[in-house]
Amino acid sequence: MSRKEKILKNSAKPKLTEFDELLKLESNYCSWGDTVHYSEKLNIFDSAEGVYLYDKKGTEYLDLQMWYSAVNFGYKNPRLNEALKKQIDKLPQLACQYLHEEKIKLAAKIAKRVEMTFEEKGRIHFNVGGAAAVEDSLKLVRSHTGKNLMFAFMGGYHGRTLGASAITSSYRYREKFGHFSDRAMFIPYPYCFRCSYGKKREFCDMYCINQFEKLFETEYHSVLNTKTGKCEFGAFYIEPVQGTGGYIIPPREYFAKLKEILDRYNILLVDDEIQMGFFRTGKLWAIEHFGVVPDIMVLGKALTNGLNPISAIWAKEKLISPKVFGPGSTHSTFSSNPLGTAAGLETMKLIEEEGFAVKVPKKGEYFVSRLRQLRSRYPEIGDVDGLGLALRVEICRKDGYTPNKKLTDTITDIGLSGNLSAGGKKRGLILDVGGYHKNVFTLAPSLYITEKEIDLAVDLFEEALKKGIAAAP
Ligand SMILES: Cc1ncc(COP(=O)(O)O)c(C=O)c1O
Repeated sequence: MSRKEKILKNSAKPKLTEFDELLKLESNYCSWGDTVHYSEKLNIFDSAEGVYLYDKKGTEYLDLQMWYSAVNFGYKNPRLNEALKKQIDKLPQLACQYLHEEKIKLAAKIAKRVEMTFEEKGRIHFNVGGAAAVEDSLKLVRSHTGKNLMFAFMGGYHGRTLGASAITSSYRYREKFGHFSDRAMFIPYPYCFRCSYGKKREFCDMYCINQFEKLFETEYHSVLNTKTGKCEFGAFYIEPVQGTGGYIIPPREYFAKLKEILDRYNILLVDDEIQMGFFRTGKLWAIEHFGVVPDIMVLGKALTNGLNPISAIWAKEKLISPKVFGPGSTHSTFSSNPLGTAAGLETMKLIEEEGFAVKVPKKGEYFVSRLRQLRSRYPEIGDVDGLGLALRVEICRKDGYTPNKKLTDTITDIGLSGNLSAGGKKRGLILDVGGYHKNVFTLAPSLYITEKEIDLAVDLFEEALKKGIAAAP
């Protein structure tokens, strides 16, 4: 068939809707290498406001994941959007080798805030995405310790660049690409609902941290030269609350004990706050709940409320002073771009004024209490927990323990189909799934969510859950 005949034949076919046309183009021309095709059910969104996303038909979706906790301050936050608009008219572009006011003020605001909290002077280095900042932190660790081996947690997630995936637990992210740097040694996370050691929290006496400590007892455990006291590992990468791993909240004493062990052997603690920072857990940095001071922090996501992304590392002065981390140590064209730093600066100002430290825990407690009521009625909900507005709902079989990925996926698709009716009109629900068995709803609603919206969210969730149980018991 000639090209012309083909075109004529195609134009004789019934016209596709705009939605189908777009999906066809996506299927042909977009790489499937990102995470869009994790889901079989695709939707196309058109606008957003507050806690809601809207599709092209105008259907409203209550969003309980907010771009994996990047949009903590709500879609189209007027104040943050305004800061970006102003910056577009003032200084929209500038090569990162030159200075602009917003970069300097943002770095100073974060560093001063950290100093106030942890009584530790440090500096800020910017980059573009979370994984890129993780890469920068690896360079800092390597330059300070001379070590390229790291500890990290099973279930931990630090990004998908080659360096970041070496300290991310899943082999799935490395399988096709091989190794670029040395892989981390992965240590069990204190995931008490599914304890790696089969212990019960009430009686375990923190068995898991004691097991970690035992690694240093003899040189034959492969981490320490007991003669010199030198450890082969440079840093331990942690998430204070594990994000992608399923919003797992460790026992409050855990990290203090861990830090004590790390200090003994001069191992740095790198605190990845990319997902849990910026009041997600009710404190500016999630690590504040645990009473330890990190050596390095990695920030991203909500720093700009998802607008013109930038990321950052904060490090103690001794690790990042110009003497040890000199000009050109790391760089990216867009790293401290004016739009991102303007949004970040306004985010920091907003945080100072909004009282999230009081409001977020209150909302979180209410949300968790409503979810626990659901749990008492549905045996398929094995666990509910939360810290601030980082909430987890673990979906299981009727025994309340065996992970049920199929039901979790079914509920997710039902939410995404936009055919729920709770609250008196056709609506959808946006849910994110995480966890070691991909059976945990990791809820990260807007920090501005109201009690009424929480009630609506729980009603929508219950409706999706009921329909899901009927479809995939
Ligand atoms: C804890 C944590 N670290 C690092 C990253 C990687 O950030 P990015 O996706 O911006 O590269 C993520 C992303 O989800 C994350 O949750």
